[in-house]
Amino acid sequence: MKTIQLRTEIPGPHSRALMARREAAIPRGPGNATPIFAAHAEGATIEDVDGNRYIDFAGGIGCLNVGHRSPRVTAGVREQLEKYLHLCFAVTPYEGYVAVAEKLNKLTPGNFPKKTILINSGAEAIENAIKIARAYTKRPAVICFEDAFHGRTLLTMSLTSKTHPYKAGFQPFASDIYRIPFAYPYRNPSGTSSADFAHHLEDAFKRSVAPESVAAVIAEPVLGEGGFVVPPRDYFKLLQNICRKHGILFIADEIQSGFARTGKWFASEHFGIEPDLITTAKSLGGGMPIAAVTGRAEIMDAPGPGSLGGTYCGHPLSCAAALAAIETIEKEGMLARSVAIGEHFEKRAHGWQKKWSLVGDVRGLGGMCAMELVRNAQTREPADTETKEIARYCYEHGLILITAGTFNNVVRILVPLVVSDEQLTEGFDVIEAALASVAERKQAVLSHA
Ligand SMILES: Cc1ncc(COP(=O)(O)O)c(C=O)c1O
Repeated sequence: MKTIQLRTEIPGPHSRALMARREAAIPRGPGNATPIFAAHAEGATIEDVDGNRYIDFAGGIGCLNVGHRSPRVTAGVREQLEKYLHLCFAVTPYEGYVAVAEKLNKLTPGNFPKKTILINSGAEAIENAIKIARAYTKRPAVICFEDAFHGRTLLTMSLTSKTHPYKAGFQPFASDIYRIPFAYPYRNPSGTSSADFAHHLEDAFKRSVAPESVAAVIAEPVLGEGGFVVPPRDYFKLLQNICRKHGILFIADEIQSGFARTGKWFASEHFGIEPDLITTAKSLGGGMPIAAVTGRAEIMDAPGPGSLGGTYCGHPLSCAAALAAIETIEKEGMLARSVAIGEHFEKRAHGWQKKWSLVGDVRGLGGMCAMELVRNAQTREPADTETKEIARYCYEHGLILITAGTFNNVVRILVPLVVSDEQLTEGFDVIEAALASVAERKQAVLSHA
């Protein structure tokens, strides 16, 4: 097994010095998954301020499907730098914004007239999607899911499911939000078919909120922060049919699952659905901040002029980056690459599952893949501390890896899709060594007990 060469102990002296400054100057709130400070990034690798090189399996939490400093993206941004930086689309419009909207209208699922607004972040996209849905339906309520993550603003935090660290201490939440269980087969012993899960929506109409009060149901087609949970294939079709019966809009949050992450442009395509509204962000910008809401033209036109937007929304540099990122996904065969990465992971992870009972579930769609770690294969007790130890082992051995899951026990793969086969194998070798280290130490504790 090849190991990644590191120059210093991790974190090295320069990272440690920067961390001391960070701790003095910045509050705890914006947490850090690693104590490593970056100096340079390229493709699927990051170099830190001490000269250590890492393979990056986190991709800025799914923002870098086209890779760090993707050549088309940097060229597009550079070219835009020479023209203008900020105009404000609400004051003096510019072509880049229009071109990104046209692209998204074409790429998103659904062969019907669409329109798109651009904003700055994923949370802002969700906020706007809910505003638009309420304006169109003239209804107040929103139904969301357990294990969902939609952001950290007041409304999106209210839609998010996880208490610590996202919600605790920040009450009161936004009103008229109702939550139902998501289709999470591994953690649902009482049935795993789509119908077993979809009935929760009908039940909510009896138990919690009348359907005629509901503007929208919002779901991530594959849960992101909730642990890369993939529902059964006809689940969303069932949900969308129920929504249509009651004049409720279906919003797909594709912020983490979009732009080739799952092997298709959007994860919704795997489920054969055409959402009324789709929110995107992250890899849309190829490393620059930009987000969007795309939807049926008549729905998108419900709010009046001046009611949507913001000073920096659809920034010219971000539009240039988004156009370049989309072109890169189109021209570099990234949909197929994502599928191949998923297959490679699945093969390795199933091997690990056979070897170590710690690996409870292996799942994913294309390059959006994960494994859920448990202390006991029968009880499925979440192995949260072990998961943390694995992430730590990885960054100490040259691999940046992040975790997920309501129970903090999921290892997720968000590697840039430009990763080479060699880098991918190297990264999986580090994960394997981490699993061996944690599983074997646990075994040693058990045999001493
Ligand atoms: C599915 C999903 N929705 C919304 C958000 C919020 O996006 P942002 O952090 O850009 O506000 C995220 C971020 O991780 C996400 O994964």
